Amino acid sequence: MILVTGGAGYIGSHAVLELLLAGNEVLVLDNLCNSSKIALDRVEALTGRKAQFVKGDVRNRSLLNALFASYPVTAVLHFAGLKAVGESVREPLRYYETNVSGSIALCQAMAEAGIFKLVFSSSATVYGDSPKMPITENCPTGLPTNPYGQSKLMAENVLKGLAESDPRWSIALLRYFNPIGAHESGLIGEDPNGTPNNLLPYMLQVAVGRRKQLSIYGADYPTPDGTGVRDYIHVVDLAKGHLKALERLNLVHGVSTWNLGTGRGYSVRQMVTAFEEVIGRRLPHVFKARRPGDIAQCWSDPTKAREELGWQAEKDLLTMLTDAWRWQSRNPQGYAVEQTATGKAEANPETALAS
Ligand code: NAD
Ligand code: UFG
Repeated sequence: MILVTGGAGYIGSHAVLELLLAGNEVLVLDNLCNSSKIALDRVEALTGRKAQFVKGDVRNRSLLNALFASYPVTAVLHFAGLKAVGESVREPLRYYETNVSGSIALCQAMAEAGIFKLVFSSSATVYGDSPKMPITENCPTGLPTNPYGQSKLMAENVLKGLAESDPRWSIALLRYFNPIGAHESGLIGEDPNGTPNNLLPYMLQVAVGRRKQLSIYGADYPTPDGTGVRDYIHVVDLAKGHLKALERLNLVHGVSTWNLGTGRGYSVRQMVTAFEEVIGRRLPHVFKARRPGDIAQCWSDPTKAREELGWQAEKDLLTMLTDAWRWQSRNPQGYAVEQTATGKAEANPETALAS
């Protein structure tokens, strides 16, 4: 059985789906602070298989001990964490506590239970403003400019030290580039709380009429068209990378680091133009000053993951944007729950299931 912390979230729910499809038994631990249980109900509808679900906090050592005593867990995918950069600047302690202390509590409980296989959700943010493109795993980690990025780098360092201290550990640090898109069914996808920070969720909410216009932050970067360039990767490709990493951990010990990206960068202008083609109309947008802390460009060299994991991203930009739009247009309010006439809370299944 695989424990998936944060398994109700955006990337976690897609990973749970892939794990179930591959025949794994899955246990999800999530406190639902940034997600909905409905995502897991929909994963069950899509796979015909159910993940066990426990609502709880990854920092709760006694809960973790109880889970490991009750379920035959052999490995952990650790997605649970906080990820909003701006919020991390306002509430740094909450970020360090969840992302660093949460990872420490999890590893302590795993070691006590004799479980030593861990896949950790890291981020390309650990490379900081890399002077070298594309970014390989041995590019130096930079100085992340915000507590979120620092918390990911700190957690990576904690895990490296842990693996050096005890050869029983097999740990994968997966450095994600920019995950976007949604499962092709349109039933699960990204549903950010409040105003989205990230480009694609913002564009989607403009397109469904929840926001007036997109702000493009900076048209004066040293990039071909002046806007920021990123390596966008389909969330389903990303989820599949986790299964490959798990397989690999059966063969290797210590810490292994893999970039999960496509190896190709797109600018904000290119993203807007491609998305306008998908929705068949103009996307209202204005140009604004650069967003503090942003870098000009960031894209991966995914060779190491291809060679060592036998994994590579397969879905192109058009598929990412089409799948994201299918999810958002069928779920304009995400997983928002509506009160029915009977008073029973239900998700909006009619919109979600409509073809
Ligand atoms: P998400 O917010 O959708 O998922 C995180 C999940 O963790 C949520 O379901 C949330 O409820 C849960 N959670 C948070 N704190 C918890 C706690 N203390 N105990 C139990 N559950 C808790 O985010 P996501 O985009 O799916 O990201 C998953 C992981 O990947 C995070 O660790 C994130 O930092 C990392 N990551 C995300 C991106 C991205 O752009 N989405 C990029 C790089 C890395
Ligand atoms: N952008 C806009 N307008 C917006 C939002 C973003 O123009 O409303 C631009 C940004 O300036 C940047 C690009 O779109 O040039 C991508 O921005 P995102 O916020 O979508 O993504 P980032 O690369 O800034 O950061 C994301 C996550 C980080 C993670 C990083 C690398 O937010 O947590 O990817 O994985 F670390």
